[in-house]
Amino acid sequence: MKIKGIVFFFLITLSISHAQSVSISNIYNREYTSLNGQWNYIVDPYENGFYNYRYEPFENQEIPERSAFFTNSKPTSKSDLIEYDFDKMDSITVPSDWNTQKEKLYYYEGSVWYKKSFDYTKKEHSNRVFIYFEASNYKTDVYLNGKKIGQHLGGFTPFNFEVTHLLKEKENFLITKVDNKREKDAVPTLNTDWWNYGGITRDVKIIETSETFISDYFIHLDKENSKKITGYLSLNGTHIIDQEVTVEIPALKIKKRFKTDANGKINIDISASKIKLWSTKNPQVYKVIFTTATDTTTDEIGFRTIATKGADILLNGKKIFLKGISIHEESPITGGRGNSLADSKQLLEWAQELGCNYVRLAHYPHNEHMLRLADKMGILVWEENPVYWTISWDNESTYDNAKNQLSEVIQRDKNRASVIIWSMANETPTTDARNTFLTRLAKYTKEQDPTRLISAALEQSNYEGNPLVRTIHDPFAEVVDILSFNQYIGWYDGTIEKCQTISWNIQYNKPVLISEFGAGAKFGLHGPKEERWNEEYQEYLYEETLKMIDKIDQLSGFSPWILVDFRSPRRLLPEIQDEYNRKGLISEKGEKKKAFYTLQKYYNNKN
Ligand code: GCU
Repeated sequence: MKIKGIVFFFLITLSISHAQSVSISNIYNREYTSLNGQWNYIVDPYENGFYNYRYEPFENQEIPERSAFFTNSKPTSKSDLIEYDFDKMDSITVPSDWNTQKEKLYYYEGSVWYKKSFDYTKKEHSNRVFIYFEASNYKTDVYLNGKKIGQHLGGFTPFNFEVTHLLKEKENFLITKVDNKREKDAVPTLNTDWWNYGGITRDVKIIETSETFISDYFIHLDKENSKKITGYLSLNGTHIIDQEVTVEIPALKIKKRFKTDANGKINIDISASKIKLWSTKNPQVYKVIFTTATDTTTDEIGFRTIATKGADILLNGKKIFLKGISIHEESPITGGRGNSLADSKQLLEWAQELGCNYVRLAHYPHNEHMLRLADKMGILVWEENPVYWTISWDNESTYDNAKNQLSEVIQRDKNRASVIIWSMANETPTTDARNTFLTRLAKYTKEQDPTRLISAALEQSNYEGNPLVRTIHDPFAEVVDILSFNQYIGWYDGTIEKCQTISWNIQYNKPVLISEFGAGAKFGLHGPKEERWNEEYQEYLYEETLKMIDKIDQLSGFSPWILVDFRSPRRLLPEIQDEYNRKGLISEKGEKKKAFYTLQKYYNNKN
């Protein structure tokens, strides 16, 4: 009995861990059936629907008890005992966080079960079907028709599970347990300066593909030769070898055929002499059509190169100064976790109005609309993995989790011209375990994507003990392509006048990006510029900081903290913060503070 139980448990875990491995390219432009809308939900702080009273997971049982919420069981008679019923429960909107939807869930951290019932008829009998989540925070267990199909860790990247073998024509029930409890060994860990929005926060889709489909591609300009398009494409399915793949770029009159190799892969190699390069001034994207015998997918690709030379950042070989702003993924419309095209449009339009050609998306991957729009609007992007402050550096499963989240964002966004920097982390301590952890992540990132730059938001320190001379003293500075650091001189570090006393001694011939600086200000509060929380204080800090950092020889740009005031459980000063970090240049109601215009003027005068 015992052996049989263990073997059964092993088979379950095996199928679950493998369920997620299929990558499906370009979901943004693929046909799909949306599962967005109203889902029934059960709030389950004791995880009563997941564990029996011995705290053993129901899903490990050979035949899970009907108390398991994922069985969606109904009483078979009036004397039958079932102590839950999704269909009699309140509903909640997907995609969205639960905190800003349900007052009772505003502070809630724990498990919530979601149920969606649907019918589904496949277009072709031989087709495959996947359930795709664009994101769900944080630990998500997914069940279809009572069977576990997979688990995902991480609140900001997409994942999918193949359900071809489980799907029915009628009355499918998809049940998802979302747990946003913070944990020490998680990524991020226990402590963050942003609201821990829980729930299925982005779109849920049913994706149907042919049996063999285009699973992955990466197409870009050759780093050394900007008249050559290179990359790869791979198929997934049973007919992947020796398949013809056509790569077509109609606007460039390019149509080239390739044959897949033994791994179902082609290496793309196309000369393109007439190509117009994507840039912030001219965000040219080309329609690229990939076609095989059984699948076709069309994407919009901008072709550009990004590199560094000494202390310069070169876009298409030309030096560029990154006029940036940091952004959290909070909706200026709903006030909760952002996820829509409208949210992204508002945030990027404010950034452009500020005079930005660059944004730092903090501290985790934002939704895909943001990157697709940045491609179209010609805004360069820093994307970041949520390795934030002090995570469990010497825990191998924490490392695997961080690496997995990184692989998922690279997989999703590697074809976006706007994305130029992968950031490994934010404000992390310079311990050996951390240095190893980040260096491994950086190496992995370069293997996945050798075309982009690597960075991380480091911390500055005193040069040889002199507090008036600042430097970067961090072994990870050796590894990054771009040297970035956060600095809060005039806010956490002294008063604004201190800015006038500071000089820099940064001993790296690399571009320097200041990834954060700023000050809190309550919109509408006015007074002497020396008094904190006034708009005048924030304005004065920007004026003095811009002068202070202009003294850095290698300065190639910055992204002040932050575009919009955002919710944080660490910001509790009454009548000023009220659970908002007030370092925004715009209030959460869209009101622009004085410093917005200070930075706008600086950027409009900066080439
Ligand atoms: C930090 C951190 C941010 C935080 C900011 C602040 O540097 O990176 O996440 O919100 O400072 O204190 O306002």
